[in-house]
Amino acid sequence: MTTTFAAEIESRHRAGFGGVKVRLDDAGDERWALRELAGVFEQFALWDCVRGLRDVKNLRETAPTSGQKKLLDVLAAPAPPKFLVLLDPEPWLEDPRTARGLKNLLEINRAGGGFVVVLSHDPAPVAPLDLLDYPRPTPEQTRRHVAEILGQWGASVPDAAPRVLAGLSAAGQENALALAVDARGQVDLDVLRRRKEAEFDRLPHLSVIEPSKTFDDLAGVGGLRDWVRSRGRGFDEQSGLPTPRGVLLAGPPGTGKSRIAEAVAAEWQMPLVALDIGAVFGKYIGESEGRIDQALSLAERLAPCVLLVDEVERAFGSGTERDGGTSARVTGKFLSWLGAKTAPVFVIFTSNVPTTLPPAMIRKGRLDEIFFVGLPDTETRKRVFEIYLPPEVKVDVNAAVERTEGWSPAEIESAILDARFGSDNFSQALDAALSRTSLYEAMPESLDEMISWARLHGRVTT
Ligand SMILES: Nc1ncnc2c1ncn2[C@@H]1O[C@H](COP(=O)(O)OP(=O)(O)O)[C@@H](O)[C@H]1O
Ligand SMILES: [Mg+2]
Repeated sequence: MTTTFAAEIESRHRAGFGGVKVRLDDAGDERWALRELAGVFEQFALWDCVRGLRDVKNLRETAPTSGQKKLLDVLAAPAPPKFLVLLDPEPWLEDPRTARGLKNLLEINRAGGGFVVVLSHDPAPVAPLDLLDYPRPTPEQTRRHVAEILGQWGASVPDAAPRVLAGLSAAGQENALALAVDARGQVDLDVLRRRKEAEFDRLPHLSVIEPSKTFDDLAGVGGLRDWVRSRGRGFDEQSGLPTPRGVLLAGPPGTGKSRIAEAVAAEWQMPLVALDIGAVFGKYIGESEGRIDQALSLAERLAPCVLLVDEVERAFGSGTERDGGTSARVTGKFLSWLGAKTAPVFVIFTSNVPTTLPPAMIRKGRLDEIFFVGLPDTETRKRVFEIYLPPEVKVDVNAAVERTEGWSPAEIESAILDARFGSDNFSQALDAALSRTSLYEAMPESLDEMISWARLHGRVTT
C-alpha cells in the first residue's frame, strides 16, 4: 500500500538523513504539510523570510525564538534548532555561504539526530537533500478530511464526495468543498466534479472520465462482467488475494472495448482516468519520458483507480517508431512500471490491432488476462437491438438480427440512429440502413487474423 507522508518523513529521520526537501505540487498544501509535520515532530522551529524564526508547538506559535530573518544566521547559529522547517528558502540558498550553512547543518543533524525540512512549491531539488513529493491524500485521509471540513461548516457528507474528490490535493479538496456547499449546508456534487476535471485539465494527456455505461447497458459481456465482479475482492486488503493488475481488451472496432472500461470503473466505484498516449509524445528529447512519469504518478495518487490506455497499438504497436527510440523508451517505461507497480491502479489496454503489440506487453504476470471481445452472436445482437430500438417502433427484430451477421454493436447502433433520423417510416429507413456493408464484410481477413491471434493468447468473452 501507499506509505503516508508522515511515515516517509519518519523513516528518513530514523535512517539519519538529517533533512529532506518536500516539494508541494499545490502551494496551498503548505498548511496541510505543516500539520502532518507537527504530528511527527511535536515541536519545531519554523522559518520564513518575512516572519523569521519562530517556535511552533502543536502547530501553535510560541514566542518568537529569535525572530532571526537571515537564513544564514539561522543555519550558522551555535546551537541550531533540532527540528527546523524552512519555507521557500531556495532564493537564499543561491548565496554560497548560506548553501554551505545548510550542508553544515545536515552534518550536525546526521550526528545529533536533528532534522531539517525544506518545504516549498519550487520544483528544483536542493542539493544534497533527498527530494520528496508531498502526496495527495490517501482515500482514508480524504474520507477523514471531508468529514472534518464539512463538519466544521455543519454540512452533511454525501457518500460520493470522497470518491469524487480522490486525486485532488488537500487544499484542492478544501477549495472544492467550499465552492460546493450552499447556504443550507448541502453539497453540490456537480460542482465537485467540475473542480476535479479542471484540476486534471492541467495535464493534457490525462483526463478523468465520468462513466456513462454500466455492464447492464452492454450486450454480451457477461463473462467479462463475472470476471470483474469476482476479481473486485482483490482490492480489499483484508481478503489476502492479489490486487488485480490489468487486462487487455482486444477485438475489432465498435465492440464496446472503450465502454467496458467505463463499466469496470462503475462496477468497482473507482475513478476512471484515461491516458492519451498519443499526447504523451513531445517535441523535445526527454519530454515524453517526463510526461509518462508525471501521468503514472498522478494515476498512483488517484489509486484505487482504473487507468484506460485506449487503442494502445497507436503508441506501443510495431510500425510506430517515430524518432530515435523515444516510443520504445516510453513503452519500456510503461511496461516496467506495470511490472513493478504496487499501487492499486487497474490498467485497461484496448486494441483494435492486437497482432502488432510487442510480446513483452502481453506477457503473463504484467496483466491478469487478455480478453478477446469479438463480433456479437445472434443472441447478443438481439440484445443490442433491444437496447437501441426506441420502444414505440414496431419492427421484425429477428429478421433484423439475421441480416446483421458480422456486424459490430456500434454498427447496429448507428444504423438504428440513422433510421430514427431518416424518415417518418422507421421500418423502411431501418431496412435501408441494414443494407450497408459491415466492416467485417469489407475486410474479413484482418478480422480472421485477429481471431486466430486471440485463440492463441487470450480468453474469448461471452
Ligand atoms: N456490447 C455492446 N452493447 C451495447 N452497445 C455497444 C456494445 N459495444 C459497443 N456498443 C456501442 O458502440 C459504441 C462504440 O463502442 P466502443 O466502446 O467505442 O467500441 P470500441 O472501443 O470497441 O471500438 C458505444 O458507444 C456503444 O454505444
Ligand atoms: Mg474504442
